[in-house]
Amino acid sequence: MNREPGRLAVLDLEPAKSDFLSEAIAGLSRMPRTLPCKYFYDERGAALFQNICELPEYYITRTETAILRLYAHEMAQCIGARCELIGLGTGAGTKTRILLEELEAPAVYIPIDISKEQLRQSTALFHQLFPQLEILPVCTDYLQPFDLPSPVRTPARKIVYFPGSTIGNFDPQEATGFLRRIVDLCEKNGGLLIGVDLQKDRDVLERAYNDSQGVTAQFNLNLLRRANHELQADFDLERWRHRSIYNSAAGRIEMYLISEIDQTVHIANHEFRFRSDEKITTEFSYKYTPEGFTVLASAAGFEFARMWTDEARLFGVFYLTVKL
Ligand code: AVI
Repeated sequence: MNREPGRLAVLDLEPAKSDFLSEAIAGLSRMPRTLPCKYFYDERGAALFQNICELPEYYITRTETAILRLYAHEMAQCIGARCELIGLGTGAGTKTRILLEELEAPAVYIPIDISKEQLRQSTALFHQLFPQLEILPVCTDYLQPFDLPSPVRTPARKIVYFPGSTIGNFDPQEATGFLRRIVDLCEKNGGLLIGVDLQKDRDVLERAYNDSQGVTAQFNLNLLRRANHELQADFDLERWRHRSIYNSAAGRIEMYLISEIDQTVHIANHEFRFRSDEKITTEFSYKYTPEGFTVLASAAGFEFARMWTDEARLFGVFYLTVKL
């Protein structure tokens, strides 16, 4: 554990490269082959994801932000005064900023993100915007157990904020387990404000994940580029193509990298043979109905309090409280 000196100190629990190596080898060794989506977000990947969020086809960020602009005041009323706000994977912090502007005297803000550079930048910005607010950034993989830093002021309650529908990148069983951990994190009296992408037309979904400018393709292929740089792998990026499909039975977008030829790839001292058209699954993105998500959250120990949505019901922001 390394607490960096200075005003923008980031508690650095960033995962080691060796995790990427072992997870890549394990994922490519089993059938169907996978690479874990959490490794999308190196510096280039995080920047590409920011670009995705601005694409006309990727309605998610725009819609969630619009919901926040309309209803952050009501969300803040539900949350109440002097909360400890724990932001999971809050990225550049655009949505958190809208929420923080409405919260009544928050005791502390604890942003937790795997991307150290983004955490540093958003913390610097938030120090300027909210000079009175204590900010305790933590760089870690929030999928792994971690300890929260102790704030100076005692909060009235802990609220976890998990925007962006990142919960959709877990399968439902993992999502339930993850939400259970959040119940433990925010304790009795705590709550969760979470963005969830809702089920909708296949066309809308497939356009969002196969954008016309090819940014999602670059984002997906960046995983191979990253493996080449960090793990000394030899993926030929020209020989892989990106594709996303909506699996309506499972209620999820499935994102693939597809081999264009028969080829062999090396990572460390491992060799992987791919046939032409063979796929590596890089990401699932589950889409929920409001009822389906409420049932899942309830199994984890949360009670539904409110959901805010847009006119077309593309996206939902749920406020859930820990069951008594
Ligand atoms: C971060 N996550 C919610 C995004 C999603 O929509 O599942 C990641 C993403 N993958 C492709 N486009 C965006």
